[in-house]
Amino acid sequence: TRAEAALKDIFADDFRIGAAVNPLTIRTQEELLAYHFNSITAENEMKFASVQPEEGAYTFDEADRIAAFARKHGMAMRGHTLVWHNQSTGWLFEDKQGNPVDRATLLERMKTHIHTVVDRYKGQIYAWDVVNEVIADEGDDLLRRSKWLDIAGPEFIARAFEYAHEADPGAALFYNDYNESHPGKRDKIYTLVKSLLDQGVPIHGIGLQAHWNLYDPSLDNIRAALDKYASLGLQLQLTELDMSMFRFDDKRTDVAEPTAEMLELQAERYEAVFRLLKEYRDAITSVTFWGAADDYTWLNDFPVRGRKNWPFLFDEQHDPKPAFHRIAALK
Ligand code: XIL
Repeated sequence: TRAEAALKDIFADDFRIGAAVNPLTIRTQEELLAYHFNSITAENEMKFASVQPEEGAYTFDEADRIAAFARKHGMAMRGHTLVWHNQSTGWLFEDKQGNPVDRATLLERMKTHIHTVVDRYKGQIYAWDVVNEVIADEGDDLLRRSKWLDIAGPEFIARAFEYAHEADPGAALFYNDYNESHPGKRDKIYTLVKSLLDQGVPIHGIGLQAHWNLYDPSLDNIRAALDKYASLGLQLQLTELDMSMFRFDDKRTDVAEPTAEMLELQAERYEAVFRLLKEYRDAITSVTFWGAADDYTWLNDFPVRGRKNWPFLFDEQHDPKPAFHRIAALK
């Protein structure tokens, strides 16, 4: 057992505290995860290509192990994700001859997939990222070009929420995206979600991925995004929080270890962010990190191959970093 207070207790009156996990980290970080977190998300194991790599041939082994890990430790679970342009699978958009399928076929496949996956974890998963990253980053287009959009048209989004709601009426259904605090994209996300609500689509929350760094987005832009999304009366969740040491366009590869100065900046940044999040505790229902400790992060190879990163509250030995102590003091 550990000397420091548990994150889930520090924020017990505010929101759930989550971590993304995978088959490696449920083994190598079990003690840390069980002590600090009361929600988990499967990092990749519930994505389309993971659970239905071939039509009708579902592979739930890894997802089931992660769900069992959550039950073992009494943790709640988020589901990620049902409809996305990435980590999808080739067969989905094609017939046996390799020609694109028609709209009705794609929607039927989407429905079968959503019903099967959501039904399997019904009652365990409290929130699903039903649709992930469909907003266009640049330009005037609202929606990102994708096979989903090309074949099925924009209404695949509303249908996805309806199918998920049919499968588990008790789960909170989320639209999830990144760059969610950039003013332009924020307004587009708002426009999409507002139009879904106006059509009576069962959507209950907005997921802010929160792949942030020491410098961006500004606290003002985070606040403006939280205000705008909360004005829709929906729950908000931070779904993939990490605090990269590097600006997104910083391509340096020569930083082998974080300096004391970097760790201090990160501590100040985390403190400021969690102070702000606590102000929105009526709207925010969970804050999930995209990992737990610095020995495993997807940022070790992204966006700069081979570069390490140290985005979390716990170091590579799972000990609390300066950032942890700063946010623990907010209780
Ligand atoms: C990432 C995983 O962390 C990586 O392991 C994988 O190689 C790619 O996907 N937005 C999302 C997440 O919604 O699913 C992504 O996860 C990170 C960006």
